[in-house]
Amino acid sequence: MPHSPGDLGDPRNLAEKYASYFPIGAAVDSQSYMTHAALLKTHFNSVTAENEMKFESLQRTEGSFSYDAADRIVNFAVASGMKIRGHALVWHSQNPAWLFSNGSGGTVSKQTLLARMNSHISNVMRHFRGKVYAWDVVNEAMMEDGTYRTGNLAEGQKSRWHEIIGESYIAEAFKAAHAADPDAKLFYNDFYNYIPAKQQGIYNMLKGLLAQGVPVHGVGLQAHFNVEPSTVTTNQAYYQHVANLEEAIKLYSSLGLEVQVTELDISLYIPGMTYNQSTFYTAATFTDDLKAKQAARYREFFELFREYRTVITGVTFWGIADDNTWLSEFSSGRKDFPLLFDVNHDPKPAYDAVVGF
Ligand code: G3I
Repeated sequence: MPHSPGDLGDPRNLAEKYASYFPIGAAVDSQSYMTHAALLKTHFNSVTAENEMKFESLQRTEGSFSYDAADRIVNFAVASGMKIRGHALVWHSQNPAWLFSNGSGGTVSKQTLLARMNSHISNVMRHFRGKVYAWDVVNEAMMEDGTYRTGNLAEGQKSRWHEIIGESYIAEAFKAAHAADPDAKLFYNDFYNYIPAKQQGIYNMLKGLLAQGVPVHGVGLQAHFNVEPSTVTTNQAYYQHVANLEEAIKLYSSLGLEVQVTELDISLYIPGMTYNQSTFYTAATFTDDLKAKQAARYREFFELFREYRTVITGVTFWGIADDNTWLSEFSSGRKDFPLLFDVNHDPKPAYDAVVGF
């Protein structure tokens, strides 16, 4: 049956189709909540700000909070009756330089950094209280081998939170978040959950936090997938099989935690393979076969999500349509087509695969 994304009454719209399973979300940015408003209002009932609620966006200068960009997205979502996930309070990336500095060329003390973390969490969560129902409190604290992300890593990869405070920064962040908004659902969010060592490391960490009485309510699975797993045994995506993700869902939910898919997309590129300018995908080389393959991959993951609907309380895509995705934001010119709607905002075979069963 032909359908158009603008058909407000279309019973096959995504969020309506999934109403008895879980909310369907999309990451939006300062532009896309307007440029993609028709798709958003038709197919999604939850939003996450892609960058606008990150530390450097909200507190670029110490003590001076800038909520305007995030508030515009929140106001849109509230007016459209959509849920809002907050992303992300404590992360190793996208932080302002002052945060880890003592102001005279050295590193901030542990005590001061804890105070800064508390102040940020408290100010931000109180600001959005009653509107943002769930927060990614700590993002990406674990490594692929199941050890903590520490300060002994390359720039861009290392965690200065861990370096300065130690692993207790995680528990302290959740405690501060619960104090700031006792009604908010508090999530630990991370990627590569399909890697057995990493999923076990996350499980052990969460189990330890819960045993100490730390208020953690759920786990976010980022779910940045590829059209097929890697065949390279040393590549992270070698483990990118549905059965491995299922193990993560089982493990985390066995702790009594909710699970949310927080950043879903399916890239056309296969990790471990080499691409260059001539093999980068374009609208012309994104063939029907490849569209069908991507659709089948989406379908198998949604089969899994539906099977675990009693523990999965949300599925959010990391974007809305293929004309605006972080995967294409490369100066290399490498375009990707990872979402359910194409560059013209029309539904792709992947969309049909997800709503058509
Ligand atoms: O805002 C500036 C703009 O002023 C400047 O002109 C432009 C030039 O490069 O950069 C803009 O900032 C970019 C920002 O996105 C907003 O577009 C940053 O360079 C860019 O690094 C940043 O990328 C974001 C990335 O997180 C940063 O790590 C992506 O949009 C965002 O999708 C991505 O999201 C992350 C999640 O938060 C956590 N999980 C992984 C996920 C994908 O990497």
